[in-house]
Amino acid sequence: MSSTFAFAPSDAGHTRPTDTIRIALAGCGTVGGALLDLLARHGAPIERRTGLRFEVVSILVRDRELPRSLHVPRERLTDSVQEFLAVPADIVVEAIGGVTTAATIARATLARGQRLVTANKALLRAEGPALAALAHGRAPLGAAIDFEAAVGGGVPIVRALRESLTGHGVSRIRSVLNGTTNYILSRVEDGDDEATALRAAQRAGFAEADPSRDLTGLDAADKIAVLAWLAFGVDPTRLPVRTLGLPPDLATAVRNAKAKGRVLRLVAEVEERDGVVRASVAPVLLDANDPLARARDEENVVVIESESAGAITLHGRGAGGLATASALLADLLRASAPVLA
Ligand SMILES: NC(=O)c1ccc[n+]([C@@H]2O[C@H](COP(=O)([O-])OP(=O)(O)OC[C@H]3O[C@@H](n4cnc5c(N)ncnc54)[C@H](OP(=O)(O)O)[C@@H]3O)[C@@H](O)[C@H]2O)c1
Repeated sequence: MSSTFAFAPSDAGHTRPTDTIRIALAGCGTVGGALLDLLARHGAPIERRTGLRFEVVSILVRDRELPRSLHVPRERLTDSVQEFLAVPADIVVEAIGGVTTAATIARATLARGQRLVTANKALLRAEGPALAALAHGRAPLGAAIDFEAAVGGGVPIVRALRESLTGHGVSRIRSVLNGTTNYILSRVEDGDDEATALRAAQRAGFAEADPSRDLTGLDAADKIAVLAWLAFGVDPTRLPVRTLGLPPDLATAVRNAKAKGRVLRLVAEVEERDGVVRASVAPVLLDANDPLARARDEENVVVIESESAGAITLHGRGAGGLATASALLADLLRASAPVLA
């Protein structure tokens, strides 16, 4: 594969002196494992072009004995959170999922002035503002939190809302944010039954460990709450999200939609009107030419409606190891500049 990574504007493609950034990686599953694969494949061109060498100094897992990819340095594996946190690192990457252990790692990282990069939307929904406040308070020590991978997989919606669109007067976000259900819908449209489609999604690494959060819409609810926080400043821990998952007889629902020339998608939406923010996740029958209807397989689509720039659409791979690990890598590259400063 050719290296087509884009780096900081100062990158002129020439060799630079190397600085080593020590990474502590919590989680070596679909996403964490893909990050190690990405670093193994692209570490050398990244080093040549940016002068950054990422060294993974510790990897937290549940079971050290599981078989893993050749790119996993097994001697760095630990199943102890204390041991993991004790290894000196510049940036901690959290890709274990869930809230309890992830929150322990996130708080400890930020409290001691380290940078945290996380892919965990459930953690952000539960603790995002508290973690952001902690990062802000410890910023003089070097703390910061980045989470591009937490919503949209490889679709760069987080940075867009955190930075590029802050002056645009965002009024509404319509989106397809759950790759698993979208993959299932696409496969059922192509004639699979729902159980076969779910198994295929799990084999491909799109489904969460517990797919019920995908199927019931709770995963998309976490994500739209995080986007509501970024776009409208509301507290995601308190924002009610009216949530419906995929309908029970999916094959019939998809067939009926097709017969009407429509497309069924699990739509996550948030809108601010008259100072009130309303969020929902629900299966919706869309016109075939709606941008959300064009999300196929694990793709995500986000349409941001804004006062000054109209509707801006982002569309790309929203789940899977590679797409999500690419977003982690982008955060790592960005987070590394202050480490070196
Ligand atoms: N998969 C995707 O497409 C995707 C997309 C976007 C965001 N995300 C987010 O990325 C994160 C990781 O997802 P994933 O799909 O990579 O999950 P996964 O495949 O289940 O991997 C989880 C990893 O974390 C480890 N782990 C889990 N709980 C642990 C604990 N309490 N203590 C120590 N280690 C623990 C597991 O160890 P073992 O290997 O020993 O089991 C495994 O290596 C989640 O927050 C998820 O929401 C995933």
